[in-house]
Amino acid sequence: MEISFLLHPILLFFFFLIFIFIILFLLRPKFLCNCEICQAYLASSWSKDFHNLCDWYSHLLRQSPTKTIHIHVLRNTITANPDNVEYILKTKFENYPKGKIFSSILGDFLGRGIFNVDGDLWRFQKKMAIIELGQQSIRSYCFEIVSQEIHSRLLPLLSSVADGGSGGVLDLQDVFRRFAFDSICKFSFGLDPMCLELSLPISDIAVAFDLASKLSAERAMAVPPLIWKIKRMLNLGREKELKKAIKLINVLAHEVIRQRRKLGFSTHRDLLSQFMRTVSDETFLRDIIVSFLLAGRDTIASALTSFFWVISTHPAVESAIQLEADRVIGPTSNPTSFDQIRNLHYLQAAIFESMRLYPPIQFDSKFCQNDDILPDGTFVRRGTRVSYHPYAMGRMEQIWGTNCLEFNPERWLKNNIFCPENPFKYPIFQGGFRFCLGKEMALFELKIVALSVIRHFRIQSTTPSSSVAPRFSPGLTATFCGGFKVIVSKKRKWE
Ligand code: HEM
Repeated sequence: MEISFLLHPILLFFFFLIFIFIILFLLRPKFLCNCEICQAYLASSWSKDFHNLCDWYSHLLRQSPTKTIHIHVLRNTITANPDNVEYILKTKFENYPKGKIFSSILGDFLGRGIFNVDGDLWRFQKKMAIIELGQQSIRSYCFEIVSQEIHSRLLPLLSSVADGGSGGVLDLQDVFRRFAFDSICKFSFGLDPMCLELSLPISDIAVAFDLASKLSAERAMAVPPLIWKIKRMLNLGREKELKKAIKLINVLAHEVIRQRRKLGFSTHRDLLSQFMRTVSDETFLRDIIVSFLLAGRDTIASALTSFFWVISTHPAVESAIQLEADRVIGPTSNPTSFDQIRNLHYLQAAIFESMRLYPPIQFDSKFCQNDDILPDGTFVRRGTRVSYHPYAMGRMEQIWGTNCLEFNPERWLKNNIFCPENPFKYPIFQGGFRFCLGKEMALFELKIVALSVIRHFRIQSTTPSSSVAPRFSPGLTATFCGGFKVIVSKKRKWE
């Protein structure tokens, strides 16, 4: 038999199928499980009773005596127990890194950016980000950028819609995503993508970014994971789309770096300039760009969307926010400083309360390095995934009391002063060593946007009963499926 016959494409494909079959057979014990939970996961039968996967997980976690469950087919332990969360994020931090599996799932998209690495690479980026985000002057820089985006784009846009531009209806989630994209690009890279200029097409990088985030998150749900790896190898289906989106992100990220070089980076205040003074590796700079876009765009847009969704059914909270702002800032003045915004305790309580029920990052996963036992007695096997679940934690009676499902900003206030909660009970910004570095900036942005919109516009959901829980699309951050359509009307002139 001639060797060339053995290299015939049909025969090669046949050998390849046999190879895949053998691999799947060998891996079979890891991803086949007959337990009720795994069967419901694999068949998606949970969706008959629950809107979202996170609602089903919350239900299972509430029922579990330890507040911890296993999804065997995903080799995933999921917990809503604050003692476990503290143990994973702080006490035994070294045993719960992001790990290689997570890095490979998100590696094509995030590369070696801060969200996707451990060890020295993480420490280096964290140190640089702390220097930049910890500076006193960063507050005035952030105030300048966000206020400018609000007054020159966001409020005029809402005003034109309220005047009847599109019948008073718009997708608020889309607007906040564009707003947050402009703000984080200006803040992190000193460049303006002008996404909120609705007359311009939405920036290509924003579209590619959404797709890459969605498709990367889908990889984490594949059973068994080998399926997405094979598709990637063969450049098929969703993996082909992901590759295309990442290619576009790479081109545009390199363009951002090129422009930054052209405009100069030695004296600029943005985060990229700061990194460029120490890093010359283009790919590493690209990874840093992508991580900061992810950090500061989707989370902010998600928090603002849920906030307005909740507020649209709580008019008393909206009035209390307005009254506080009239007292602290003055009934007709605009905020003039970062510190003035910091003094809005009721507004902060309302934002924390909305993120308690609707966290922008609904769950977060780590990998167990060595066999371990969590404080609640759960055994965790080496090489498996451990996730903590802020969405479920916000719905736990043991943590928040019997009224845990109610939206009640007062639970955060003592004598009208905002009192923070233990970060392991409320890990919205994570806790322990990988605590969110942009928390202060994020809170400022959320507060000033929420306030500016509430003071000038009435926002009503177009869905008659917005008490129906939102449906989320799969992704790295919580996104309302189909957006959040609202009717905008004016309360008072915004200038
Ligand atoms: C509502 C808004 C935000 C929320 C809920 C949030 C939440 C989080 C969470 C949960 C993490 C941990 C992620 C992980 O390790 O997998 C994180 C990390 C981080 N966040 Fe935020 N974030 C927000 C906004 C921001 C903003 C505006 C920035 C800055 C531009 C930022 C910068 C970072 C950075 C640099 C890290 C990495 C920390 C590390 O790995 O050591 N975040 N954030």
